[in-house]
Amino acid sequence: MTSGSEPADADVSFDDYARTRRAAVEAALDRLLPAPPACPPLIAEAMRYTVFSGGKRLRPLLTLAAADSVAPCGTADDRDVLPTACAIELIHTYSLVHDDLPAMDDDTLRRGRPTAHVVYGEGIAILAGDALLTEAFRILALHSESDAPDLRNRRLRTLSRIATAAGAEGMVGGQAIDVAATGTTSATFDAAGLRAMHERKTGALIRAAAAAGAYMGGSSDAEADAVDRYAAHLGLAFQIVDDILDVEGEQERIGKTAGKDAEAGKPTYPALFGLAESRRLAARSVADAKGALKAAGLGGRLSEIANWVLGRTR
Ligand code: IPE
Ligand code: IPE
Ligand code: MG
Ligand code: MG
Ligand code: MG
Repeated sequence: MTSGSEPADADVSFDDYARTRRAAVEAALDRLLPAPPACPPLIAEAMRYTVFSGGKRLRPLLTLAAADSVAPCGTADDRDVLPTACAIELIHTYSLVHDDLPAMDDDTLRRGRPTAHVVYGEGIAILAGDALLTEAFRILALHSESDAPDLRNRRLRTLSRIATAAGAEGMVGGQAIDVAATGTTSATFDAAGLRAMHERKTGALIRAAAAAGAYMGGSSDAEADAVDRYAAHLGLAFQIVDDILDVEGEQERIGKTAGKDAEAGKPTYPALFGLAESRRLAARSVADAKGALKAAGLGGRLSEIANWVLGRTR
């Protein structure tokens, strides 16, 4: 069971909450990832290299916090929610491995270490990404024979939502727009187009991460809608901040090569609006995110996550 109950939790700082929940995610990822002899050592090693490399774990944290925020008594059951949170982190990690490939952003630094294709070669990096994505859906389908029909239905709804968010309607679609537009910034993008790309490439999975937590935590439809609206604003804010950090972040902190977006001619918020307006737009999205929660009587850790996203330096 989680430590997410409201009254018991009130004294726990956000940093401590996040540290505890991240540790649970790390341990579950370690348990869930395939290992030799079930799979060849090389692919297991490449998957683990990419997964255990100091990511912020925002998406699984969102899943857990959303589940805690809607669960009766403020406490979700980790047995239901942790595998979902881990599956989303695996999909996210696959997207980073492929995003860094020479055919996409051609990045050599990720999470402060050489990218997967630099270490293992492009073929193994592509396959590690494929395996992480596939593994995620195996985990999402995991269930026990004793699961109640209601829990099975929630699992299916969650799986379908995550698949839509990860695929052509969501992240893959957004990445396709990004790849096609790179180098053509001013010719192709107005504010609505840029926002639409960000909503797909980054927003869709962040949104699904939070919605999945709500579903698995047993939310009402109204609560799930509120969490979904919150995460839609949060996802946009997250990518605006990512664009800003590419311009003004410290390479040692962001763990990625700084200044790559401008060099590659990427469509970004700072490129279209400038830094000051980008900061204002990120802050507005975070305020909208918190507003969506408040309107539904939610808040707590999800609200704190929104503050963290806006203030982050990595
Ligand atoms: C980076 O995501 C890619 C984007 C969608 C902007 P994160 O900033 O969450 O990366 P990690 O997981 O912490 O490395
Ligand atoms: C990547 O966006 C989004 C996905 C991986 C889906 P970016 O290309 O801006 O992410 P970073 O900056 O390389 O982490
Ligand atoms: Mg990219
Ligand atoms: Mg990139
Ligand atoms: Mg970026």
